[in-house]
Amino acid sequence: MQARYKAMQPFMTPEEADQMLRIAEARRVFRTYADEALNEGIGEDLPQRFDAAFNYIQHGIDGHGNSDDVTTASQRTNYFRETYAYADDIEAPGIESFFSHPDLLSVAREVMDRSIVVPAIVYANILTPGQELAIHTDVPEFRGADRKKMPQWLLVTMLHSGLFNDYRVPIATCVSWFGANPGGAFTYYPLGPTAARESMAATHNTALLIDTDSVFHGVERVTPKGLFPTIDKGATLSFEGEDQWSLASAQGDEVARYSWTDLRYSISWKAYCFRNEAERAKWADRSDDLTLDFILDTLDTDLRVRGVLTGERPEPTAFARLLVNEYIRFPAAIAA
Ligand SMILES: [Fe+2]
Repeated sequence: MQARYKAMQPFMTPEEADQMLRIAEARRVFRTYADEALNEGIGEDLPQRFDAAFNYIQHGIDGHGNSDDVTTASQRTNYFRETYAYADDIEAPGIESFFSHPDLLSVAREVMDRSIVVPAIVYANILTPGQELAIHTDVPEFRGADRKKMPQWLLVTMLHSGLFNDYRVPIATCVSWFGANPGGAFTYYPLGPTAARESMAATHNTALLIDTDSVFHGVERVTPKGLFPTIDKGATLSFEGEDQWSLASAQGDEVARYSWTDLRYSISWKAYCFRNEAERAKWADRSDDLTLDFILDTLDTDLRVRGVLTGERPEPTAFARLLVNEYIRFPAAIAA
């Protein structure tokens, strides 16, 4: 597989880059990234991204195993996220120029080889000392199948199966970094899960535009500072002024205090990409949408052709595990 990607070094003007830090401060409170949506009808008992979570617990970030217990592993990856812009709704004042940045649009056209690029979302992630991000591919979209309607692991499985390419809506992702970011390099497999892994330091005011729905990637551990604190689901990270951030439990008790130099701060931009207006119209008017039954029947048929499914289709949770195991080949599992 040949992944197309492009680094931007530097990305914005120094003033614009500094503004990205001020936007986080103005936002004031960052909350942990919680799972969304339901797995109705299939795999109800499984977490949305059980594909990546199970692999991480087994293999860790580098494929050499994970020495953490399950609770610590989940807290290491329970990072902080705030949405800055969604569709045309600007939620963080000052982000407008980033949302429709001309360099992002032109690099996305080039990397994704699509002439029409429609910005969809801008969000910020903050990882605290000791946190990291499991190797994964992002949640893709297909006509009629997105995370509002389908479980995230199913969408990821669909992409890796290659059976729904005609329905895919390619998404360009640009990850950009601002601030000191100790550790926390972006690690990825640009030439596929069996090829070499590369890393890009999270240097202030740099960015990488890449198809993160296809390319496995993660975040290396942010430089630890003292004991790793408890970061439960309702934890908050709040800017307290004068370069101070407070990490608090869901009950509001402070568990750690950090300055900007301790944190890893990134901003992600995602945009839908189309070859032409006809392709965009087909997506917008929903005239050629997938249905869940069609998706499951297509996968079921393919599993029988592969010889991994015979007889009755198993119950939903077992079927979900079978699909993920069959189609999603993680780099670590391959290396093992
Ligand atoms: Fe990602």
